Amino acid sequence: MKLTSQKSLNSSKFSVLTVVESDNIQLPSNLVQFQDVFKIAVADNEITGKAKTATLLRGTGSIERLLVIGLGEAEKLSAESYREAAGIAGKEAKALHITSIDYIIPNADSSIAQALVEGTILSTYSFDELKNIKKPDMAFAWQSIQIISDADLSDAMQKAAIIATAMNDTRDLCNAPGNHLTPSIFAAKAEKMAKAVGLKATILGEKEMEAEKMFSLLSVSKGSDEEAKLIVLEHRPKGATKTITLVGKGLTFDAGGISIKPAANMHEMKMDMSGGAAVFGALKAIGELNLPINVVGIIPSSENLLNGSANKPGDIVTAKNGTTIEILNTDAEGRLILADALTYAERFKPDYVVDVATLTGAMVISLGDVVTGMMGTDQTLMDELKIAGEESHDRVWQLPLYEDYDQQLKSPVADIANIGGKGAGSITAAMFLSYFTREFKWAHLDIAGTAWSEAKKSYMPKGSAGAAVRLFVQFVSNQSK
Ligand code: BES
Ligand code: ZN
Ligand code: ZN
Repeated sequence: MKLTSQKSLNSSKFSVLTVVESDNIQLPSNLVQFQDVFKIAVADNEITGKAKTATLLRGTGSIERLLVIGLGEAEKLSAESYREAAGIAGKEAKALHITSIDYIIPNADSSIAQALVEGTILSTYSFDELKNIKKPDMAFAWQSIQIISDADLSDAMQKAAIIATAMNDTRDLCNAPGNHLTPSIFAAKAEKMAKAVGLKATILGEKEMEAEKMFSLLSVSKGSDEEAKLIVLEHRPKGATKTITLVGKGLTFDAGGISIKPAANMHEMKMDMSGGAAVFGALKAIGELNLPINVVGIIPSSENLLNGSANKPGDIVTAKNGTTIEILNTDAEGRLILADALTYAERFKPDYVVDVATLTGAMVISLGDVVTGMMGTDQTLMDELKIAGEESHDRVWQLPLYEDYDQQLKSPVADIANIGGKGAGSITAAMFLSYFTREFKWAHLDIAGTAWSEAKKSYMPKGSAGAAVRLFVQFVSNQSK
């Protein structure tokens, strides 16, 4: 993929012009060849600058097509407006089988450039791997993305392509069904990616996890024939001192276990490894960008099924850190595997630990698919994540982790129960995790709502949204400054 920025445009098959809402929309002087059609479209109220509107003009000169996209009101303009515009443009180009795109945006800066390239690459993603009969636009791949602007934007464009491509890899993992992505396959894919990028990969199987006394994690996997894996990815650039550890829930399928889920939409639980996939994508991008900070990714991966050895409601297991857990609901399995993965994180002596998980249905109810829920024990870390979320538009919103919620986890027979009863389900899940994070500064991200897209944004087709990848790359990049 060629990514370039230039001051002027010679010829183009598909150019994009963005305009803000106004009564007096002007055509830039370098586009005089479109003057007549542009004037008519403005006069007929076809080109208004209203957000998410697009008008395709055909030219006879050196520019064959000009797609005019509205950005909305000038006061509300942000990088996200350009990401949305690029999503519209990308999809239009793909529909026309055109693989080169030229954005004519004279005032573009690096944040606009990043948003444009991200929006373009993210919008044309589709999961076609497993289609044999009708593969729509299978061969589509961007040849060239160019921005016509006064500034040199190539660095920002390269960075954006790395991030968006990593997000698409994350999406591939999440969209893959359970039989095509088992914990073993996930681990193999992580090893392959690590080799290509120059990360260290370590895979623990069930034997090694037994030696580590990870009996909370292993109890979930007991109910399935597939072996659980603990995937560890390490980015260790020379001279780095600070260490950030990212832990991602990697349930390749969550049927609920003996506390089985209802049949309707159970298939969507193939995406219950979205946290793990976000860690995978973030480590790939961080490695490729060679950010000057140590980052360790930990992905506990398992299935949650129900054979004769599965966890039963009432079972009590002992986690790696010695805490005993009464499993009152086998469908609250994410916290059981995260518990031991979080304790495992201690050995990396991290400055910060952030876990990311499709942890609770309650999160979908409280914040929907708009913003990721955040809880934790270190306010500075959470403030930094909030900032990174706004900057990347992969946003987080904090919920309280007041001590008062702790009583909901009381068990008469064990140290804690794995569910907190009625009320504040996302918070009691985080409270449960806090029993395994006492040794470090920690924040938890619940992406149950944000991991899956219903195609409300131009650059987010239905399916995995790649949530938390942009956030993590931005956060780590801010931390390394
Ligand atoms: N993976 C689910 C949470 C989930 C729900 C993710 C919807 C994405 C969309 C998790 O393992 C789960 O089943 N949680 C239970 C916990 C409950 C039993 C306390 C839930 O939220 O219902
Ligand atoms: Zn579950
Ligand atoms: Zn789950």
